[in-house]
Amino acid sequence: MSILIKNGRIVTVSDDFVGDIFIKGESIHAVGKDLNYEADHTIDASGKLVFPGGIDPHVHLDMPFMGTSSSDDYESGTRAALFGGTTMVIDFILQTQGDSLYNALKTWQAKSNGKACGDYSYHMAVTDFNDSTSDEVVDMIEKEGITSFKTFMAYKGALMIDDGQMVALMQKVKEHGGLVTVHATNGDMIDKLIAKHRSEGKLSPLYHYLSQPEITEAEASGRFADMSFYTSCPGYIVHMTCKGALNHIRNATMRNQRVLVETCIQYLVLDASLYEKDFEGAKWVMSPPLREKKDQVALWAGINQGLVNVVGTDHCPFMWEQKKMGKDDFSKIPNGHPAIEHRMEILFSEGVKKGRISLNKYVEVTSTNAAKIFGMYPRKGNLGIGADADIIILDPNEKHKISVNTHHMNVDYSAYEGMEVTGKVKTVILRGKLAIDKEECKVEAGYGRFIKRGKTSTIL
Ligand code: URP
Ligand code: ZN
Ligand code: ZN
Repeated sequence: MSILIKNGRIVTVSDDFVGDIFIKGESIHAVGKDLNYEADHTIDASGKLVFPGGIDPHVHLDMPFMGTSSSDDYESGTRAALFGGTTMVIDFILQTQGDSLYNALKTWQAKSNGKACGDYSYHMAVTDFNDSTSDEVVDMIEKEGITSFKTFMAYKGALMIDDGQMVALMQKVKEHGGLVTVHATNGDMIDKLIAKHRSEGKLSPLYHYLSQPEITEAEASGRFADMSFYTSCPGYIVHMTCKGALNHIRNATMRNQRVLVETCIQYLVLDASLYEKDFEGAKWVMSPPLREKKDQVALWAGINQGLVNVVGTDHCPFMWEQKKMGKDDFSKIPNGHPAIEHRMEILFSEGVKKGRISLNKYVEVTSTNAAKIFGMYPRKGNLGIGADADIIILDPNEKHKISVNTHHMNVDYSAYEGMEVTGKVKTVILRGKLAIDKEECKVEAGYGRFIKRGKTSTIL
């Protein structure tokens, strides 16, 4: 199978020109102007933008959490991702405390193998670090191609590790060329505030927000940066939301330290006023919570300053019935919101179209940086010769509205209902195969492949 994309505006982190791409089999064979190849299929991309396929390194598919499970499985989640221009996701395996990493890996392989439409990998969440987990960490890196380890500084009793475990894990991961990622919020401070609000009968979703003030995230982000500096282990903070946390990372640059930072699309475009809508606010109950306008400004600036390296989603959808588990108590609302399908288009619309970021920056934070950080570059996140032919073609002028009635995620509401977006993903190619075309998914469950990853790069 071969595909020739003609006359598209090809944009990478460093290039921006009108030209052609010739795809042979699963990879890119040639890139240039006026390419003259016979192809099985030709796509006229005149007037359209051609980008590397999106990589979302923060999704939770079919994940047991807070007494229920996220409602997108590997099939529905990766299919929805493809519709929105994301060709690869990195999901989180959760180790059960007291059990092994390998048992957790087997559980996630059973959820994903043969079921994904798009490509995928896993981060391994280490929730219990001890001598045997320590040996397994090495095997994950050396044998399984899982080179990033997730840690939680919150969710005590289920997922949280203490600082002693964090430092020991970092030392091990550093020795073997991996990366430690973190949910950086101060779990003890948050638990105290949750208990206080509950004891005062303050039980609506607004109190989820008020139980996680900015300082709980800023403090933990600074502490994580210090532990990463002390151990020299590369560190990556997931879903950063606020100015206070970002300031700690900016300060860390003064000692020539680089802490990698991901924010998520919701923190750039939604804010905490949504928690004032009584129980409807449960749609946006996530951790950390949505913040304020001044935090959005800081995050957009952080992207342009090179402090925020990746925009993900933290896609963790729950049906409305599941959200209602917390009808009478915000602390029982399953945390998370659906976004896997919308990241690329919302960021294009709010970022590029509104003049906040350049096209090259867009490619950096939606694809290339994630490929570099998570050990997949230049195979992924790249339009160079020999790279996997993961390519999206986007119409920069088509306007549309986001709605539960048209999205493809397995969730019965939209957290972005009615949002008007300029820019639509028209065609998606995954490893040389037409995956999305004319609003239809052309690949079956099982086409998506597990991607073994290599060592991390902190030089972006
Ligand atoms: O609210 C969230 N973020 N749910 C998913 C789990 C996590 O903390 O990332
Ligand atoms: Zn988290
Ligand atoms: Zn998450």
